[in-house]
Amino acid sequence: MTRYREFHRRSIEAPEDFWRDEARRIHWETPFETVLDRSNPPFARWFVGGRTNLCHNAVDRHLAERAQQNALVYVSTETGIERRYTYAELYAEINRMAAVMRSLGVKRGDRVLVYLPMIPEAVFTMLACARLGAIHSVVFGGFAAPSLAARIDDAKPALIVTADAGARGGKVIDYTPLVDEALARAQHKPPHVLRIDRQLAPERLNASYLVDYEPLREQFFDAHVPCEWLESNEPSYVLYTSGTTGRPKGVVRDVGGYAVALAASMEYIFEGRAGDTMFTASDIGWVVGHSYIIYAPLIAGLTTVMYEGTPIRPDGGIWWRLVEQHRINLMFTAPTALRVLKKQDPALLKKSNLSSLRTLFLAGEPLDEPTASWIADALGKPVVDNYWQTETGWPMLAIQRGVEALPPKLGSPGVPVYGYNLTLRNEQTGEVCAPGEKGVITLGYPLPPGCMSTVWGDDRRFVSTYWSSVPDQQLYSTFDWGIQDANGYVTILGRTDDVINVAGHRLGTREIEEALSSHTAVAEVAVVGVADPLKGQVALAFVVLRDADRYAADEARAKLEADLITTVDRQLGAIARPARVHMVSMLPKTRSGKLLRRAIAALAEGRDPGDLPTIEDAGALQQVRDALAAGGKA
Ligand code: PRX
Repeated sequence: MTRYREFHRRSIEAPEDFWRDEARRIHWETPFETVLDRSNPPFARWFVGGRTNLCHNAVDRHLAERAQQNALVYVSTETGIERRYTYAELYAEINRMAAVMRSLGVKRGDRVLVYLPMIPEAVFTMLACARLGAIHSVVFGGFAAPSLAARIDDAKPALIVTADAGARGGKVIDYTPLVDEALARAQHKPPHVLRIDRQLAPERLNASYLVDYEPLREQFFDAHVPCEWLESNEPSYVLYTSGTTGRPKGVVRDVGGYAVALAASMEYIFEGRAGDTMFTASDIGWVVGHSYIIYAPLIAGLTTVMYEGTPIRPDGGIWWRLVEQHRINLMFTAPTALRVLKKQDPALLKKSNLSSLRTLFLAGEPLDEPTASWIADALGKPVVDNYWQTETGWPMLAIQRGVEALPPKLGSPGVPVYGYNLTLRNEQTGEVCAPGEKGVITLGYPLPPGCMSTVWGDDRRFVSTYWSSVPDQQLYSTFDWGIQDANGYVTILGRTDDVINVAGHRLGTREIEEALSSHTAVAEVAVVGVADPLKGQVALAFVVLRDADRYAADEARAKLEADLITTVDRQLGAIARPARVHMVSMLPKTRSGKLLRRAIAALAEGRDPGDLPTIEDAGALQQVRDALAAGGKA
C-alpha cells in the first residue's frame, strides 16, 4: 500500500505542488498565476488566471494527432441508428452547432438548457456551449414539465435545446409538449427553443418559438467558431441535483479544475489511454454522463461510446455484443444495470468475445456483494466500484489501479482518492471516527479541482448546505454514512438526509412529498426510501387524506392511489414514482411535529424502528404497520 499512501499523502500535504504537476495534462492558452486561492474559504479557486477551454481540450487539441480516430460512436437500439464521428467530424459538428447557437444570440456566460435524449447532438450541444463559453445545464429527459420549469426559472437560459422525442424500451416520449408546458409554467421566457427533429414524435407540435436545427445546420455547414478562452474559474456548467429541501440545487462546475481533475482520473483511476474505447452506460442528464461519457474520455483522446436504449433490448446480450463489435476497453455503469443483467440468461455474456475489455467500473449506488461477485466471476476482469456525487464530479473513493492495484474489498468502493482529504466524523462532535466506527463521510478544505465551486446563484446556500454540519470546522459533508476499516477501506451505509437512490437515480423524498401534496385529496404525506432487490431503493408514500370517508371503499382507494402516482409522473417524471401509496389517518411525528421518516422506513423494511424520540401519538406507528400489512410490502 506504500505507493498509494505516499501518493495520497502528497496530494493532501502539498496540494499546490501535486496539482501544478497534473495541470500539465491540459492545454492552457494563458498559464495560470496561482495554483490555489484559499483566501475565501470554503470557496477554493484553482489555477487562477489560467485561460483554457473544455472544447479545445476535448476536441481541437487532438486534431493534429488523431483527426481520423473515432471520437464518438453512437448506438441506439431504440431507432436502430449507429453512427461514428472521427475527431475531425466531431469538430465540424460542434462548430456547426456553435455557429447556430451564436446566430441565436448565445454568448459567453449565457446559460443554455439542454433537454435532449441520448443523441449525438447532445454531445455537440454541450461541447458547442463549452466552445462559446456558454454554460450548459442539462436536464434529464425523464423529468416532467414542472421540474423542467423550475430549472428554467433558476438557470434563466438564453436558449433551450430540445428534440421532438426521446425513446425508451420501444416507447416514444414526446418532448415538445413537455417543453411547451414547462415554458407556460415558467416565469422566465427564453428567447429561443432549438429543436433537433428526429422525426420520432407521432404528433408534430409547431409552436411559433420553435426553431428547427437541420436547416440552420446546413446554413452554417462550413462554420469555424473560435474557442472562447475562459478564466479557469468561470463556470462551465450547472447540473441540478436533489437534496433535503424540495428545491433542486444547481451544482456549478469550473473549467480548468474540471479538465485537470478528469484528465488525471483517466490515468490514475480508469487507466484509459489515448486510442482506447470507453463505454459509459449512463445518461447525459447525470453527472456520470457529463464526466465519463463526454469530457473525460475526449480530453484523454479516447473513443467514447454513447448508447440509447436499455440493457435488455433486443436482449440481455446487447452490451456484451457492443464490447465485441467496438473493441471496448473500459466499461462504466451503475450496479442496477448489472442486477438487471444478472437475471438474464448467463449464456448471453459468454456468447461475445470480451477480450478487449480490461476493467468494469461501477458507481452511483451501493454495489451489493452478490452482484459484485457474480460479475467479477462472469467477466474474469477487475470490477472497480467507485463512490462520488454530482457535487464532486469525479470519484472520491476507489481502488486507484493507475496508482497501485490494491486488493478490492467486497462491499467497499475502496480507499480515499488522491486530492480528497476524506475522513469519517462523529455526527454530533465532529471528531474523527476510530476504525470500525460509523460516521458521516466528510471532506476537508479545500476540495480538489473539479468539485463544485458553488450553488448556482446562491453562494450562501453552498456554505449553509455543505459546510455547516460541524461547527467551527471547515468540513464538507457528503451526507453519506460510512465506516472505515484499519486499512482505509470505506463502506457506504446510506444517506444522512432525505435523499434516496432509486436505480442509481438520486431523488429527494421532499420533492416527491411536494408533488403528492399538490393533489387535492392529500392533507399530509411522508415519503421514505426502502430497500429493493433490483433498484437498490424504491420510494414508498404514506398519505393522510383530507376526506378519508370519500375513499372508504377499496375501489375508490385503488383509483386514488393510481391518481396520486400519475400526479408524481406529471410533476416530476416517472423515475420519481413511488412503488406504493399507503393511506393512513395520521403520520408518526415527534412532539415538535417532526416527521419520523427513519422509523417509517425501518417498519417498511421489516426492521425494528429502534429508540424513538417521544412520539406525539404512538397509534401513528401502528397505523403505518397496519397499512403495510394490509397493502403488502412494495
Ligand atoms: O449516496 C451516495 C451514492 O449516490 C450519491 C450521489 O449520487 P449522484 O449525485 O447522483 O452522483 C452519482 C455519481 C456516481 C452518493 O452521495 N453513491 C454514489 N456512488 C456510490 C454510492 N453509494 C455507494 N457506493 C457507491 N459506489
